Amino acid sequence: MISQLNSLKEKLSSLKPPSNEKELDETRLKYLGKKGEITLLSQEMRNLSKEDKPVAGKLLGEIRNSLETVLKNSKENFKREKIEKEIESEFFDSSLPGLQPKFGTRHPITTTMDEVVDIFSGIGFQVEEGPEAETDYYNFEALNFPAEHPARDMQDTFHLRGLPLLLRTHTSPVQVRAMQKYKPPLSVIAPGKVFRCDADVTHSPMFHQLEGFTIDKAITFGDLKGTLNLFIHKLYGPATKTRFRPSFFPFTEPSAEMDVSCVICKGKGCRVCKQTGWLEILGCGMIHPNVLKASDINPDEWGGFAFGMGIERIAMLKYGIGDIRHFFENDLRFLGQF
Ligand code: PHE
Repeated sequence: MISQLNSLKEKLSSLKPPSNEKELDETRLKYLGKKGEITLLSQEMRNLSKEDKPVAGKLLGEIRNSLETVLKNSKENFKREKIEKEIESEFFDSSLPGLQPKFGTRHPITTTMDEVVDIFSGIGFQVEEGPEAETDYYNFEALNFPAEHPARDMQDTFHLRGLPLLLRTHTSPVQVRAMQKYKPPLSVIAPGKVFRCDADVTHSPMFHQLEGFTIDKAITFGDLKGTLNLFIHKLYGPATKTRFRPSFFPFTEPSAEMDVSCVICKGKGCRVCKQTGWLEILGCGMIHPNVLKASDINPDEWGGFAFGMGIERIAMLKYGIGDIRHFFENDLRFLGQF
């Protein structure tokens, strides 16, 4: 028994400490488990002689203590290693600079609209707004489009089911609303959303227009041209040329469309202006006497000019954007460029 204990002591003194939790459990079982070597030896103690007992007991105690110390130390090592690993993987460097929050940018349509509004405000136009859900009267009737007038076909209208309303197809109804609200002389611009049942590379079912008109005594087509030329020179630069082509709108007579020399190729001819050197930019004309009459303004005493432009078109030319749909897709890669 004593020699057995001595050789066990020898063996344990060269025991390699367990390298993981599993080995630790195995070692404990092997020596200290129910059938472990140390447990079995301590059960045999009672068979020893009186003289041998204290010697063996002392030896056994030493063996058990030193093994338990090894096991306890290993267990603590594993625990500490585990915590260290956790701290390392969750490492937080409080000295790192914080993440920059992403800043939004203004939408190019908003920027363009503001620029156009600023130019006209600067020469005395006041800003008016009207409803997007409009009556037939303001959108058509009062603008000299009687029921069944073929010119109503020029504007593919969204009607609101079950309501005597439609989505305004242009900002021209604000002309009538402003004329009813104020007395001439009067210079008004009306920015806002308009709606037409149309969608492709250059058309969107919702887009933005800016309407403008002046009513005063002795207004001529020259006043219209002067105002619009000034506007275009401020917007696209003083070298931009303009030209007026006859056109038709029921609410202006005579009516015209204004072209500007291509802002992309400076009039030389390119893909955007379809090699013509010119770009159509807005509709305009002298306010029709019937429109003045509908708002109780005497056409023998007062005259006026009006114009209306699409803001998306102006922005597309300003920024060289080829597809109107980019404005409405809310792709941050697109919007972040402005
Ligand atoms: N309302 C017309 C359109 O949407 C534009 C226009 C406005 C034309 C004012 C003449 C005068 O096409």
